[in-house]
Amino acid sequence: MSQAVRWVDALSLDELWEGDIADVELDGEPVLLVHLPGGSIKAYQGLCPHQEVLLVDGEWDESTGRLLCSGHRWEFDLRTGAGINPAGCQLYQYRVAVSDDKVRVGIAQDGLSHHHRASSSERAQS
Ligand code: FES
Repeated sequence: MSQAVRWVDALSLDELWEGDIADVELDGEPVLLVHLPGGSIKAYQGLCPHQEVLLVDGEWDESTGRLLCSGHRWEFDLRTGAGINPAGCQLYQYRVAVSDDKVRVGIAQDGLSHHHRASSSERAQS
């Protein structure tokens, strides 16, 4: 059975140039938008799985697709949402649709948290 998704307008493409990242709050959820070189757009949880610092405040390198969290320098690959350091820490990924220059994000209506947290032992690291 397909899962119900509510599509929410996030930004226009004029507000999210290729190579940019941006944070938005959609339906009360912090979301990180990424416009990758080449045109693909991704949406991930907006807060770090470690200790919930805003990911948009991190150091973003569009050429490698890597983001270093400003909190304690955990590193993520924003092409996939995968944790690089530490590995095995996957960002929650939302569905994205683009039409008429509008970026829309699909919020699953599943009653679950759309935010992955690191394990408690990983969260204790800094
Ligand atoms: S809050 Fe992101 S690395 Fe600690």
